[in-house]
Amino acid sequence: MARIAFQGIAKRFGDVSVIENLDLEIHDHEFMVFVGPSGCGKSTALRMIAGLEEPSEGQLSIGDRVVNDVHPKDRDVAMVFQSYALYPHMTVRENIAFGLKIRKVPPGDVEKLVDEAAGILGLKPLLDRKPKALSGGQRQRVALGRAIVRKPSVFLFDEPLSNLDAELRVQMRAELAKLQYRLKTTTVYVTHDQVEAMTLGHRIAVLAPMGKDRKSNLKQVGTPLELYDRPENVFVAKFIGTPNMNMVRATVNADGTGLQAQGFATPVPAALQAELRARAGRELLLGIRPEHVGEASAHGWTLTAPLGGTVEIIETIGHEVIVHFRCGDDIVIAKLGAHRIPAFGDRIDLVMNAEAMHLFDPQTEQRIAG
Ligand SMILES: Nc1ncnc2c1ncn2[C@@H]1O[C@H](COP(=O)(O)OP(=O)(O)OP(=O)(O)O)[C@@H](O)[C@H]1O
Ligand SMILES: [Mg+2]
Repeated sequence: MARIAFQGIAKRFGDVSVIENLDLEIHDHEFMVFVGPSGCGKSTALRMIAGLEEPSEGQLSIGDRVVNDVHPKDRDVAMVFQSYALYPHMTVRENIAFGLKIRKVPPGDVEKLVDEAAGILGLKPLLDRKPKALSGGQRQRVALGRAIVRKPSVFLFDEPLSNLDAELRVQMRAELAKLQYRLKTTTVYVTHDQVEAMTLGHRIAVLAPMGKDRKSNLKQVGTPLELYDRPENVFVAKFIGTPNMNMVRATVNADGTGLQAQGFATPVPAALQAELRARAGRELLLGIRPEHVGEASAHGWTLTAPLGGTVEIIETIGHEVIVHFRCGDDIVIAKLGAHRIPAFGDRIDLVMNAEAMHLFDPQTEQRIAG
């Protein structure tokens, strides 16, 4: 049993408050990703699990054991850092075995464990090489090998792929997902890359830098699709998804059936109307993802609003084109099929899929309904 529980955890460095009121349970066998911008406390949270930082407040448990006072080496966790310095004078085999030898594991067992890990990671043909004779991805796998031979009850990864080039990162990402599927070891993975978070995590915890109110910087916890389909606040709405969700100010009409933005008007799905009647005449934030703005003929959308404007930026990706256009005072981003590439300065007329709108309170930035 290796669930991990943060209960009322805070971490402060002198006057600097990094984490407050963190309540979060990571399930046994789960692949949990901590994601957020630089400085939001991801590494600090991970280091507390490893025992490299001590919580200023609260209780941290691994399995059924409160570990606040347990030494890092007695926590049965293995951590892989971004800079995974291998010993250059040792072979791959010796690098992987090193931690076991230090722990005085009998030599016969060491050999078996190294062999097994090398098999899982495809390192068997490379066991007698030194790190300098390996590619970046192979070195990364050796670092993983050092972690998995220990058969810990928890894996902790702190941006382990950020030194690799884009292609290798995608490849290693797939290998990590497979590895965790196979070993089922509870895993906590830190990244600032939301695509990495979405593709790896069973669930994702989105962290933001600590606000002045020092309430909590945990913005939402959920499966990738829960975060994508139902972001609970503006921070998560904008953080998850590329390009970012469009966010424009809009005013609720008198009976709650529609919204008026700067450059367009839209009907509101029936399910949201009761909530909006109570906000008639008030302003709110209307969020719509770029994939929900497009050409009317290309989609089967049933509730739509026309919107258009002058094209300001065109990003041709290949299978799609990302177009930024000015609509009233707002810049709206749309993802279009690659068959028709508009030109800079063109007038473009599209529709928005109104069923896919997200509404937020402009003061609290919390989701309103739906
Ligand atoms: N020992 C320390 N003393 C003072 N402040 C610290 C200490 N360690 C971390 N911090 C601060 O805590 C905040 C969170 O740091 P942390 O390393 O957890 O961020 P992060 O989310 O991992 O960021 P990154 O994506 O850049 O790695 C930062 O503002 C950092 O400056
Ligand atoms: Mg970090």
